[in-house]
Amino acid sequence: MTTRRLVLTRSAAVIGAASTGLLLPEIARSQSNKIRVGFMLPYTGTFAALGINIEAGFRMALDEQGGKLGGRDVEFFKVDDESDPPKGVENANKLVQRDKVDVLVGTVHSGVQMGIHRVARESGVLNLIPNAGVHAATRAMCAPNVFRTSFSNSQPTMALGKPMMDKGLKKAVWITWKYAAGDEAFEGFKESYTKAGGTIVKELGLPFPNVEFQALLTEIAALRPDAVACFFAGGGAPKFMRDYAAAGLKGRIPLYGSGFLTEGVLEAAGPAADGVMTTLHYSDSLDTKRNQDFRRKFAITNKLQPDVYAVQGYDSGLLLAQAMTAVKGDFANKKALYGAMEGATIDSPRGKWTMSKSHNPIQDMYLRVAEKGENKVLGIAAKQLADSGAGCRMG
Ligand code: PHB
Repeated sequence: MTTRRLVLTRSAAVIGAASTGLLLPEIARSQSNKIRVGFMLPYTGTFAALGINIEAGFRMALDEQGGKLGGRDVEFFKVDDESDPPKGVENANKLVQRDKVDVLVGTVHSGVQMGIHRVARESGVLNLIPNAGVHAATRAMCAPNVFRTSFSNSQPTMALGKPMMDKGLKKAVWITWKYAAGDEAFEGFKESYTKAGGTIVKELGLPFPNVEFQALLTEIAALRPDAVACFFAGGGAPKFMRDYAAAGLKGRIPLYGSGFLTEGVLEAAGPAADGVMTTLHYSDSLDTKRNQDFRRKFAITNKLQPDVYAVQGYDSGLLLAQAMTAVKGDFANKKALYGAMEGATIDSPRGKWTMSKSHNPIQDMYLRVAEKGENKVLGIAAKQLADSGAGCRMG
């Protein structure tokens, strides 16, 4: 067959396919009435359990709306971001360009979030952040189409300094993974602890997701501070608490942390977690009907225990569902949709919260102590705490 004949044959085949409807799915998709939701979350690695609970929480919120958003059906897409920052832009584009999602729900890791952020700002696609606390997303680089339903990295630790000083713990060592989440959690700790009169005697760190804590724990033992404060999360957190106990520090030097330290990991940490004090915008033991109902339903539906990540995913779903109801499913009316999100009050299992001008939750921070597999609430460490939103200019 000559090249020309081959081309003609192929064209005829394409026309034939179109006329018989074989190419229609492509056309139908672009005119579909469905809202396309893409999850970009970690499903493997240190933060895998976090991604799984976020997605389960989000889906639960939609299930409560009969699986619809403002009366429209929903179609889901998924990408495993592996908490790998260099692949952030490419992975976000798989959802935005390839799958043409209307909403990108992601992610957990602050470094990966910056990749999503670039794509969200360039494409204008709505991005709901169900965890990553990176400051830039709701401060200097805030954007009209980016909303966070979780926290800013310094929010939990802004509530940590005072309770430590109230216990007379005047000299502390800080330890974390050295990346945006750890560094920005330190900013909050430094501000609250030094303001309350404390002194930070040493800042220690190791690269994410390294869990070789031994040398650093030896250094802490030699420094003999009054307390240790930290940021660790996911698979690294129970390992840190177990190593801390094994190094003989538990019971001698009180351990404090941004509350992620004891989220979703108490079983894995075992007795090593008992007595660890943390501050966070949620606690499993919050004694409200809203929280207990949520926990029961989540556990039954997913055969998983809910934690702060499940709540944050759920709240992303609530936020979108409420706004879509407000605009009666008219997703194209971005002004009204984003206006509804900005004005929303979310009746969350964590307690009610509202959206700040820079699109970050204004919320209570609880002081908790880990006890026998539970984060027991000791009180509210900071009431309706807002992030500064420094440098945010919308529009
Ligand atoms: C983050 O990278 O922003 C991050 C990751 C896990 C957490 C909290 C923050 O639990």
